[in-house]
Amino acid sequence: MPSVVIVGAQWGDEGKGKITDFLARDADMVVRYQGGANAGHTVVVDGVTYKLHLVPSGIIHGKTCVIGNGCVVDPETLLREIEYLHGHGVDTQGRLWISDAAHLIMPYHQRLDALQEQLRGDQRIGTTGRGIGPAYADKAARTGIRVGDLLDEALFRQRLERNVRQLNDLMHRVYDSEPFDVRAIAEQYLDLASRLRPYITDTAALINEALDQGRRVLFEGAQGTMLDLDHGSYPYVTSSYPSAGGACIGAGVGPTRIDHVIGVAKAYTSRVGDGPFPTELDDEIGEWIRQKGREFGTTTGRPRRCGWLDAVVLRHAVQVSGLGGLALVHLDTLGGLERVRIASAYEYRGQRLERLPHGAHQLAQCRPIYEELPGWDEDISSARRFEDLPENARNYVRRVEALVGVPVQLLSIGPDRAQTIALDDVFAAAARARGAGAR
Ligand code: IMO
Ligand code: MG
Repeated sequence: MPSVVIVGAQWGDEGKGKITDFLARDADMVVRYQGGANAGHTVVVDGVTYKLHLVPSGIIHGKTCVIGNGCVVDPETLLREIEYLHGHGVDTQGRLWISDAAHLIMPYHQRLDALQEQLRGDQRIGTTGRGIGPAYADKAARTGIRVGDLLDEALFRQRLERNVRQLNDLMHRVYDSEPFDVRAIAEQYLDLASRLRPYITDTAALINEALDQGRRVLFEGAQGTMLDLDHGSYPYVTSSYPSAGGACIGAGVGPTRIDHVIGVAKAYTSRVGDGPFPTELDDEIGEWIRQKGREFGTTTGRPRRCGWLDAVVLRHAVQVSGLGGLALVHLDTLGGLERVRIASAYEYRGQRLERLPHGAHQLAQCRPIYEELPGWDEDISSARRFEDLPENARNYVRRVEALVGVPVQLLSIGPDRAQTIALDDVFAAAARARGAGAR
């Protein structure tokens, strides 16, 4: 049975939650493999809006959901989200599983996130302030505390004490900031642990067993390719691996078990946080897209920066994540513009560039080379088939496919689950890919 990875093909906020929800209908299990509560995934079902940060979007369909080892977990935020789901009549007991190997976000990670941003001054990254960077830094430095450690009180206290002792020195000498109270943190986290205990397990075993039994597994990416620690616009990135390879490490499955990768992209581009963005629109069209597309952050409420679609970015996502298709969302938002543009390449130091340059510093010097297409005026949000769309909207989609080099498999024309047009059966495409691989 096929497994599919859903990845963001831009700078995050592409609508991965909606696409996950749409595909989850035909899946058995949905897995988050990286990131933390920096993500904000919105799902609208029958007019009810659900906003999720850590729990996979498949939970609303009653699917088995996993927070994999590649994630960083803030237990308080997670428990709040679980209560929020219960309040909406969505059950989590026996359905939601958290990896014992996922790392914990501690209160000091959040404060460090804010202090480090202050120190960066005008070179700040514009993080979500959720402690993501410092938590992954501790993981790489091998001083992190993992979810499974919560289940062994003595071990947890020992690791916490070691970390806080070192940290308080840093707070005093470098940041001129208050010390942390080990006892208070220990009490808080051990109390949260007693409530999280039933959800904690070896999730890599759970996912591999599901695959062994022929179940359909969806991997729900958070953030996007351009925020990937290795493949994004470094250093304006997050501290994990949103691209498809992250699913293997972050869930504990081998690359041979992934059959298909679908990239989610808006019909334009948005970015929240700092860093270069070649197709950004600082004018009234940018503002118009922001208002019509409701481009305000789910996690922080920040207005998102908006601009034209960037095919260079999407080709990069195809390359580093092995995309077999695209889910193109927010096509309805572009309706009403007389002309629409797509960046097909960049101009960099007098030369035409077809691919992304080395890093943020070079990207900041790139000027987009645009193609212009006629827009469409009609409201397309109630279309149900590709053929229902006005000719110019169809031509836009076809042009995106030609520039990016992969087919558009899903098209979203509004926030509701029903406002999705399937041009292909994604699981069938995955099964085809598996068949081709087997030969
Ligand atoms: P979803 O899953 C959009 C951005 C932040 C900042 C950078 C680093 O909803 O697509 P971090 O807090 O991760 O250290 O911030 O990454 N960022 C996102 N932007 N959507 C997200 O998640 C994001 N998660 C992080 O704005 O620029
Ligand atoms: Mg977001």
